[in-house]
Amino acid sequence: MTRVEHIGIAVEDANAVAGLLESLLGLNLYKTEKVEREGVRTHFIDGGRIKIELLESTREDSPVARYLEKRGEGMHHLAFEVADVQQAIDRGRELGLQPLSDHPLPGADGKRIAFFHPRDTFGILIEVCETEALK
Ligand code: CO
Repeated sequence: MTRVEHIGIAVEDANAVAGLLESLLGLNLYKTEKVEREGVRTHFIDGGRIKIELLESTREDSPVARYLEKRGEGMHHLAFEVADVQQAIDRGRELGLQPLSDHPLPGADGKRIAFFHPRDTFGILIEVCETEALK
């Protein structure tokens, strides 16, 4: 069953954002993980049914750094949990979307992930993810 798994938010200072969400809403930061390939440090906040993934750039030329430079802080992507990421990639291609990878890539928090180019998806950067352990 497809569901929104997390919302990715590009930020300059994840600890400041996590601190605000904790003070204002009592939400907890429960995991921080670096994804070297993407030049990003991810901070996961338990938002109840949907996680919040704060994305902080770890190098100047990372996709998140370019995003922050162009658009500033804010909502970056919507991640949907699917049963099979490869199937979702193939389905997207059939629909004329441009997957950003041909195959699922290892993501943070034990997921296999893929993205679709937002040009084809009404400006929404869509991530599809599946839990590694399910395979
Ligand atoms: Co994500």
